[in-house]
Amino acid sequence: LSKKHENGGLPTVRSDESKLSAAISISREAATVSITVVGASGDLARKKIFPALFALFYEDCLPEHFTIFGYARSKMTDAELRTLVSKTLTCRIDKRENCNDKMEEFLKRCFYHSGQYDSEENFSDLDKKLKEHEVAKISNRLFYLSIPPNIFIDVVKCASRSASSSNGWTRVIVEKPFGRDSESSAALTRNLKQYLDEDQIFRIDHYLGKELVENLSVLRFSNLVFEPLWSRQYIRNVQLIFSEDFGTEGRGGYFDHYGVIRDIMQNHLLQILALFSMETPVSLDAEDIRNEKVKVLRSMRPLQLENIVVGQYKSHTKGGVAYPAYVDDKTVAKGSLTPTFAAAALFIDNARWDGVPFLMKAGKALHTRGTEIRVQFRHVPGNLYKRNFGTDLDRSTNELVIRVQPDEAIYLKINNKIPGLGMRLDRSNLHLHYAARYSKEIPDAYERLLLDAIEGERRLFIRSDELDAAWVLFTPLLRELEDKKIAPELYPYGSRGPVGAHYLAAKYNVRWG
Ligand code: NDP
Ligand code: BG6
Repeated sequence: LSKKHENGGLPTVRSDESKLSAAISISREAATVSITVVGASGDLARKKIFPALFALFYEDCLPEHFTIFGYARSKMTDAELRTLVSKTLTCRIDKRENCNDKMEEFLKRCFYHSGQYDSEENFSDLDKKLKEHEVAKISNRLFYLSIPPNIFIDVVKCASRSASSSNGWTRVIVEKPFGRDSESSAALTRNLKQYLDEDQIFRIDHYLGKELVENLSVLRFSNLVFEPLWSRQYIRNVQLIFSEDFGTEGRGGYFDHYGVIRDIMQNHLLQILALFSMETPVSLDAEDIRNEKVKVLRSMRPLQLENIVVGQYKSHTKGGVAYPAYVDDKTVAKGSLTPTFAAAALFIDNARWDGVPFLMKAGKALHTRGTEIRVQFRHVPGNLYKRNFGTDLDRSTNELVIRVQPDEAIYLKINNKIPGLGMRLDRSNLHLHYAARYSKEIPDAYERLLLDAIEGERRLFIRSDELDAAWVLFTPLLRELEDKKIAPELYPYGSRGPVGAHYLAAKYNVRWG
C-alpha cells in the first residue's frame, strides 16, 4: 500500500504491476492472497462479499493459498464470524453433493480480527495474523472497504502504515459513495492518493460486473448489424431505467444524505450510458476502454434543472397492506426533500449523438423491480406500410431492449406480417432469453469484480478521471436542487412514479418503454 515500502526492494508496483500479475497467474501457487474485508460485521459483507468469495472458491477461481480476514470493531471470535457468514453462503452455482464440504473448507479459511478503524496498532496486530497464514513466497493483500465513507481514509492510512504487503501487491477495493459532489470526491481521491497509487485503488461500481452490462460491448462491437446503427442517424432516443419495488427501509440514514441521483444515476446508470455511447476503444485493454468512457462523459452537457423531475414516495395502502412513506423512516430527517425518484434528460454533444435524448429514470418503491436499456430507433423513411400502423407511427419503430435484470434478456422489436391472406402487420420480438439459452446460473456482479481485483484487471473499475467527469455533470444540478430546496413530487409507494416524468419525456417526443 505504502508507495515507499510496497515491494520491499522489488521494483515499484506502478512499473512492475503487469509483470507481477503475469507471474502470479502463471504460478498462482507461488503467492498467497490475503483478503481483508473491513467492515465484516456489516450488511454488504454478509449479503454480497462473503457469498461472492465462496462462489469463487466453489468454482476453483481463488488461488491455492488464500486467507480471508474479517475486520471490524465488533467483538467476534473466528467461530462466530464463520457462523455469521455461513448463513448467507449458498451453493447456487450448482447443487452438487459436495456443497457442504466445500462450505466447511471455505469457512476454515475465514478468520476474524477485531480492531478500531483508526488504530495503527490494531492493524499491526492484523498484519501479524496475516503473516501466520502467508505460506507462499509472495504475499499479496487485498483490502475491501465495506464501511461507511467517513472512515475510508483512517483505514487506508492505518493499513498502509501497518498492514501492507512487504513483498507483493497491496490493493484496496473502495465502495461507493465516492463523495457527494465534485469537491468531496476530489478530496477523497486526494486523500487516498496520499497512501495509495491510482493503480492500487479499485473503485467498485457493481453494475459494471453485471453480465448484461459487460455484454454491451460484445453486442456493439462484435455484431455488424448493431454498430453501424449506433448513432443519431438511426437512434431516436435511449432510455436507461432502474426501478425497485421496495423503499429505503433499513438504509434511510445513508440514503437521506445522498438521494437517488447520487445513489443510482451518477454512478450505475451513467456508467451504462458511457459504455453504451463511447467510441470504439483501441483495444480491450482497461486503459483504452476507460479513455473512451472519459471522452464521452466529457462530451456530455451538465444536467440542467429543466431537464430533471424529482419525486419522493408517500404512504399507500394496497390490498389491506399499509406501505410507509419515505419520511416515516425514523432515520430520515423530518420534512426531508431527498428524492427517492428522478427522471432526467441528458445529451452528448458530439458528432455521433448530437440531439439524441438519453433519458434516465431511477426510483425506489415503484410498482416493479428491474433495470433496462431501451433503444428506440427512428421511423422508416417513406415507409410503404405506413397506413398499416394507423395514426400511431411511433409504435412501428424498432426497439432494442437490453434487460439487465431480473430475468436477463435482449430482444429486438420488429414488424412482421401476420400469416394469412390479408396484409396485417404485427409487432414481434426477436428474443435472446438467457434462462432459456444458458442453463448455468449467471454469476453475481461481486464475483466477477472480486476476481478481477485479485487478478489485477481494472477494466470494470472506475478511474479517478472518470469519476471527476461524472461529478462535473451532476454537481451543479445537485447544488441547485438543494439551494433552491426543490420539493419532490410525491408518488404513492408501489406506483409508477411521478407523472412529471412523462411530461419530461414528452418534451423530447419520447414515450417511456
Ligand atoms: P454498514 O452500515 O452495515 O457498515 C459496515 C460496518 O461498518 C458495520 O458493521 C460497522 O462495523 C461499521 N460501521 C458502521 N457505521 C460506522 C460508523 N459510523 N463509524 C465506524 N464504523 C461504522 O454498511 P454496509 O455494509 O451496508 O455498506 C458498506 C459500504 O458499502 C458503504 O460504503 C455503503 O455505502 C456501500 N454499499 C452498500 C450496499 C448495501 O447493499 N449494503 C450497496 C452498495 C454499496 P463495526 O461496528 O463492527 O465496526
Ligand atoms: C446500490 C444502491 O448501489 O445498488 C442501492 O446503493 C440499490 O440503493 C442497489 O438498492 C441496487 O443494486 P442491485 O444489484 O440490487 O440492482
